[in-house]
Amino acid sequence: MAVTVTTMRKMKAESDKITWLTAYDYSFASLIDAQGVDAILVGDSLGMVVQGHDTPVPVTIEHSCYHTECVARGVGNTMVVGDLPFGSYQTSKEQAYENAVKLMQAGAHTVKLEGGELQVETIQFLVERGIAVCAHIGLTPQSVHQLGGFKVQGRGAAAKQLLEDAISVEQAGAFAVVLEAVPQSLAKEITERLSIPTIGIGAGPACDGQVLVLQDMLDIYPKKSPKFSKNYMAEASTVHEAVGNYVSEVKAGVFPAQEHSFN
Ligand code: KIV
Repeated sequence: MAVTVTTMRKMKAESDKITWLTAYDYSFASLIDAQGVDAILVGDSLGMVVQGHDTPVPVTIEHSCYHTECVARGVGNTMVVGDLPFGSYQTSKEQAYENAVKLMQAGAHTVKLEGGELQVETIQFLVERGIAVCAHIGLTPQSVHQLGGFKVQGRGAAAKQLLEDAISVEQAGAFAVVLEAVPQSLAKEITERLSIPTIGIGAGPACDGQVLVLQDMLDIYPKKSPKFSKNYMAEASTVHEAVGNYVSEVKAGVFPAQEHSFN
């Protein structure tokens, strides 16, 4: 059965861990779909792992749409999450709507954008127009230059703002929120406070689901992978097996372990 926003809400309610992976093309999308992953995020991480840039900043809406189309052709039941790239939604809520429509017409079922409280109006505007939106808070890679690098967010006094961001995107109507590189205790608190699912990446085991960048977990990215990822090829003889093991480990609460989490 197709995975929908309702499925994900139900999974949270039943403490059934949600699995997401990134992908950018047809072949990997079909393989991931066949392993029962709940959602494929066509992330703007494509700027790094597909295009070879150091950040996702150069990714355009045209790039995002192209890869979303490729992925959409490969999936059966898996949800496709299109990613609104840098500069494609910050000008106005109308700009965000126009570009979210492009992603959905390219085959995305839902869209993701970065930001918390500051994006509330935009999230509301999209949701009121029938678009399911996932927010992304914590380490938001599109703002890497403003953040001063790919660093853990929400430590100390910043924790309060991150919690407020999470609550405000839920109130705005987001169907899920990605928490990237945040202390595990804060991710746990956010997960317990929200009724929508939290999808963690470097946010510890308490999140309702997990997402990893495919090239990191297959250990094929030539540059350094983040501490919060795990090389699933180390104990698999095929890519299919590696993805299957990721699903099993997330479901069993084995991944992420402490070594993949921040305090
Ligand atoms: O673009 C991406 O792949 C992402 C994940 C890191 C969550 O946003």
